[in-house]
Amino acid sequence: MTETDTLIIGSGIAGLSAALACADNGISSTIISCGSDATVSNSWQAQGGIIYKGATGGPDELVEDILKAGCGINHVPAARQLAELGPRVVESILLKRARIDFDRTPSDYHLTREGAHSEARILHKGDQSGEAILAGLDTLVRHSPLVTFTHETTAVNLLMTSYHDTNRSRRHERSRCFGAFVFDQKAGEVYPIFAKNTILATGGIGELYLYHTNSSHARGDGLALGQRAGCRLANLEYVQFHPTTFFHPTARRFLISEALRGEGAILLNQRGERFLYRYLPGFDVPELAPRDKVAWAIHQEILRSEAPCVYLDISHKPAEWAQERFPFVYRNCLAHHVDITREPIPVIPSAHYHCGGIWTDLNGRTSLNNLWAVGEVACTGLHGANRLASTSLLEGLVWGTQAGEMIAGAVQNDRHLIRPEIEPWHAEKSQVDPAFLKQDWFLLKSTMWNYAGLIKTNARLERAEGILSELYRGIDQFYQRAALSDDLIGLRHATTTALLILEACKKNPRSLGCYLREERDL
Ligand code: SIN
Repeated sequence: MTETDTLIIGSGIAGLSAALACADNGISSTIISCGSDATVSNSWQAQGGIIYKGATGGPDELVEDILKAGCGINHVPAARQLAELGPRVVESILLKRARIDFDRTPSDYHLTREGAHSEARILHKGDQSGEAILAGLDTLVRHSPLVTFTHETTAVNLLMTSYHDTNRSRRHERSRCFGAFVFDQKAGEVYPIFAKNTILATGGIGELYLYHTNSSHARGDGLALGQRAGCRLANLEYVQFHPTTFFHPTARRFLISEALRGEGAILLNQRGERFLYRYLPGFDVPELAPRDKVAWAIHQEILRSEAPCVYLDISHKPAEWAQERFPFVYRNCLAHHVDITREPIPVIPSAHYHCGGIWTDLNGRTSLNNLWAVGEVACTGLHGANRLASTSLLEGLVWGTQAGEMIAGAVQNDRHLIRPEIEPWHAEKSQVDPAFLKQDWFLLKSTMWNYAGLIKTNARLERAEGILSELYRGIDQFYQRAALSDDLIGLRHATTTALLILEACKKNPRSLGCYLREERDL
């Protein structure tokens, strides 16, 4: 049994920022993550960078860009909070404390630009910004004796007084979260972690789709945990597709950062034409339009030409500059025999970011007591119908810090909280045939990709729901009757989350931002 002030589920930028804020305020935390180390997170893989501040514009201009990209359905106070607190936390945590070595010009930090930004305002470290930021934060957090890391540990269910308290008379009180049942992957055992407060910081949902830019553990764990506990959810239909991931008939897709377009890369079709002008006539530089529009235009061009991909070209820039500015993209493309300094990169859109999630307020508080959600798993309303590039790391940093500070402030009130007694976990022993798990994952991912991908229709959503409801029944039987594994727990979380997304899509017939509907009878 483990007891902690704060249980943090997830070790990306949002989870680490929350742990740091808790530790700064004398509060202990335990961070659990499914992966074996810090590299298994979407934050680590982020290429573009983190918004800081532009040379001319201030918070008002940033808010305007966020609202424009988000099609105006954003929660304005959330955009304002990001724009106002953002530069302060970047400065105090990333620049002064973690001393992240962002790229510089001779006189200052080098600021880059991405799609839908009205000016250059993004700090970056080559095209491996997430890695640099996370490594710096990880070191800070590990120095604190108040933070415990437990990797290869998967959250199975949240502990809720309304469900788990053995004293049934207390179940009628307002429910609160008091930790989670977690699965130790090495020991193969489930045990409880009791916590006064629990933070969901599990990241995104890319693994629900065949092709995506995310880490392999981005499978909607937090959303499924929150939904089962009774959390209010919001905007689940808004799944953002990144316009440019590396296309190869057999190799795994990887992100080709929007920063390439920010630095002048252009999109071409198979005939070498700059086709975006045809689809996005209102934009002077259509490559810098919001990513929902660019992804849609690429999709249309691919359908029209029947080519499997389009091309992103930065070969007009000096070769040495391109290698230095985009070392990750350069290396990884070259590994597949594409030299970005000499030829265009084959690209195609893939699932990238979930703009919806568990509803939270400006401090990361969910609708349930003592349960918080920060980072991609949360829906603060910041992104509206489409996320502005490079806001995600900043959102994780700002909301993680806010939640940690709020929890520290509330700890006096939490002192009287009694820890409920619970029934021990009942473990099963039968092993699931791995062939089922493999096929079930494939069915889930291909169904979401083909029927609930970039473009949705009623008929596709209906079909997907039928397939996944049936799939869920089978998976849940395994979950009830077999020995658990990270893969099985993750598959159950992922299928739950996929069904929630389908339900949200079915309820919303209106295309907006990254959510694209098409009218078709069948
Ligand atoms: C990118 O580098 O294109 C991704 C950055 C982001 O999604 O904010």
